[in-house]
Amino acid sequence: MSYMKGKTAIITGGGSGFGRETALKLAEKGTNISIVDLSKEKGEETVQLCNERGGDTIFIQADVSKVDDVKNYVAETIDHFGKIDLFFNNAGISGSGVRTLECSEEEFDSIVDVNLKGVFYGLKYVVNEMLKTGGGVIVNTASLGGLVGMPTLGAYSATKHAVIGLTKTIAGEYGRENIRINAIAPGTNETPMVKAFPAEAIKAMAEAVPMGRLGQPHEVADVVSFLLSDEASYIHGAVISIDGGAAAL
Ligand SMILES: NC(=O)c1ccc[n+]([C@@H]2O[C@H](COP(=O)([O-])OP(=O)(O)OC[C@H]3O[C@@H](n4cnc5c(N)ncnc54)[C@H](O)[C@@H]3O)[C@@H](O)[C@H]2O)c1
Repeated sequence: MSYMKGKTAIITGGGSGFGRETALKLAEKGTNISIVDLSKEKGEETVQLCNERGGDTIFIQADVSKVDDVKNYVAETIDHFGKIDLFFNNAGISGSGVRTLECSEEEFDSIVDVNLKGVFYGLKYVVNEMLKTGGGVIVNTASLGGLVGMPTLGAYSATKHAVIGLTKTIAGEYGRENIRINAIAPGTNETPMVKAFPAEAIKAMAEAVPMGRLGQPHEVADVVSFLLSDEASYIHGAVISIDGGAAAL
């Protein structure tokens, strides 16, 4: 897919999980990437892995919930690469897993700050740059929890529903200016966090999925890479489930 070559992407939460897997895939296609992450160690590790594959990848440390950090990752990307073509607006956190109304105000705020405000700030400052160069393509990371309720993860589920609302609304507002935007709704994936759960818990989660297994991060990265490519040129304002059928029930 040579049309990804020479494009510039920003990936938030690029130090781990879906962000890292997507970065590796784009690097193989020759895309230049800004890896944005709170963790310097994880972000720099992704940069190294990408630079072994192709393209030019840099690391920018940022907390996506802080607007000055967001302005800075946009400015540093423009300084280094001159433009932003692709944006995987992906960084997110989940929650401590208590019943929703037992969630502390502090925890609720922090989930809203990262998962909703962080996504909004990214859109606000990245789209502004994309408009200067004739447009761009965006994928926001929502969740299965953005489509259905998630007992014990109420703040998370609320923010992911909100990400879908932002995605659809911005699709309506900016489509004519060549901003193409979609959201993904992954189900539970075998990320390091999930792998650390007791085997019985993992088995039960897998059995609840129509396909009888959890997802793998590369299966999400494949879809994101497709949505960011010209092959998805008429997919706009959509929410793509990647969940082994979990949202179907
Ligand atoms: N893992 C799943 O099963 C699953 C399912 C559905 C949706 N999601 C969503 O996918 C996205 C990525 O999840 P993942 O599983 O790859 O997670 P992960 O924890 O493996 O990676 C997330 C990365 O984001 C970074 N990060 C966290 N807070 C940040 C902040 N404030 N600013 C900048 N970076 C920050 C972390 O350092 C980490 O490198 C999240 O939005 C998550 O809600 C995950």
